[in-house]
Amino acid sequence: MMTSEEKEAKYKELLNQLSALMDPNIAWVGNAGNLIAAIQEAFKHWWCGIYVVNSNNQLELGPFQGPIACTLIGFGKGVCGTAWKEQKTIVVPDVHQFEGHIACSSASNSEIVVPIFKNNQVVAVLDIDSIEFNQFDEMDAKYLEKMVLNINF
Ligand code: SME
Repeated sequence: MMTSEEKEAKYKELLNQLSALMDPNIAWVGNAGNLIAAIQEAFKHWWCGIYVVNSNNQLELGPFQGPIACTLIGFGKGVCGTAWKEQKTIVVPDVHQFEGHIACSSASNSEIVVPIFKNNQVVAVLDIDSIEFNQFDEMDAKYLEKMVLNINF
């Protein structure tokens, strides 16, 4: 596992690249795809993707990298639906201890979900899963929250 200094250096490098990577002339979906690809090139997590609030008020699977995943998640359901409901980032060191966790993949052991806001409303969430326990911390929350601001939702 990388040290916290190495992790911070990677996040800083990623953040610096993002303004060049995000293209304001295309729809959010392509930019979200590139953001996910950039995160995965740097960190190679088990699963990294975005769920978008759809017109039925559910989280709907959007661009992602990793194994096949659940397609619809209700408000307040799982880690994703909880981050949406509580409008805050949720770090889960051990998903098996999180009541209501939705196991899209049995290999996943820890998770972080970052809400994405537009006009003060949650419009999507960024979800990252790891096969390592305790993979994510406050540093991931801080940098991922900054990174999602670059998607033109
Ligand atoms: N574990 C998530 C569901 C999405 S998958 O991990 C890709 C949750 O509990 O909301």
